[in-house]
Amino acid sequence: MTIYNHLAYLDNASTTPVPQHVVDVIDHYYHCEKVNVHRGMYKLANVVTQQYEGVRQKVAKFINADDKNQIVFTSGTTDSLNMVAFGYALSHLQPDDEMIVSVLEHHSNLVPWQQVAAKSGGRLRIVKVDGKGHLDQKQLTKMINRHTKVVSLAMVSNVLGTYTDMRPIAQKAHEIGAVLVVDAAQAVAHMPIDVQKMNVDFVAFSGHKMFGPTGVGVLYGKSELLEEMNPVRFGGEMIDQVTSRSATFQPAPLKFEAGTPNIAGVLGLGAAIDYINGIGYPSIMGTDHLLVERLMSELNGLKFVTIYGSPSADDHKAVVSFNVEGIHAHDIATILDSVGVAVRAGHHCAHPLMDFLRTESVVRASVSFQNTIKEIDQLVVGIQKAREIFK
Ligand code: ALA
Repeated sequence: MTIYNHLAYLDNASTTPVPQHVVDVIDHYYHCEKVNVHRGMYKLANVVTQQYEGVRQKVAKFINADDKNQIVFTSGTTDSLNMVAFGYALSHLQPDDEMIVSVLEHHSNLVPWQQVAAKSGGRLRIVKVDGKGHLDQKQLTKMINRHTKVVSLAMVSNVLGTYTDMRPIAQKAHEIGAVLVVDAAQAVAHMPIDVQKMNVDFVAFSGHKMFGPTGVGVLYGKSELLEEMNPVRFGGEMIDQVTSRSATFQPAPLKFEAGTPNIAGVLGLGAAIDYINGIGYPSIMGTDHLLVERLMSELNGLKFVTIYGSPSADDHKAVVSFNVEGIHAHDIATILDSVGVAVRAGHHCAHPLMDFLRTESVVRASVSFQNTIKEIDQLVVGIQKAREIFK
């Protein structure tokens, strides 16, 4: 990052850096192979279509989906969740049916469901978290009832870093015929996602939070659910037959990919998966944990710092949010910037969680395996500096 000598980039939950390999793959496409997919009859068009579909296969393997047609390319997590909300939930909800989310959801896993509730006459129910930021499992168990049609939860919180094991929730949801949707945006760069092991119904994540480009993401869905789900965008390449008055659609996933897709983005996403596989999740998780341990141990040692969620590093998957007594989160972020540390400060697109935590804003440090202990220490120096300035 050229305006700094060295930027300790601790804002990976916003977006991760991209490795050269990803840039090279995108660059190669634009320089040498810039053609459309699924349309051309010439050799290059076929080659690029095969590369594009090859990434679909790669994503399927990456999350252990059993069929590449369960992978829909979207513009990101928000797009994926909106597709499930408006393409699936809206047509499955009757007045008095219910959807469940938690208080720690990012707005992108809340606002679409609010809209579906308003349009369908259904109800949106909100499960709380405990003092450590874990879902209140007792409340959730009680909440899931015969009216429940959708449960949609973050696998890792973008503010508290808490992880939710989806397997028991999937089982409860399935017992009453509901579907479980997983927002895996904050998980995918930090832990393996196994859709079969979790037995979840839909999973959403973004390329740009997993060392890939912006503007591309994934929606995984079980085959029978994608079959039932309606497209929410209509146009070229998603159709089967069209007359002046009506149209039939392709099977999934193509019925969800109207128009020219983000070809460069999809190819870059494939390169990002290669990058993650090359490093390996065991190594990624080990480094993440060392970094978070150091951060938590430093912050726990500062009496004027309040950490949100659990005091234990084990409960923070690469994300730690905090406030410094008497100093606004934005001021902390500004002072951290002055010592070359990038963090995010604010409500983190999670207003209901801010209300629940009784604050308006928090400082969030979020690591990736590319960070170093020295960078964590740089953050602590910045916090001390802020204390000096505001004393
Ligand atoms: N969703 C991203 C975050 O939490 C932008 O920062």
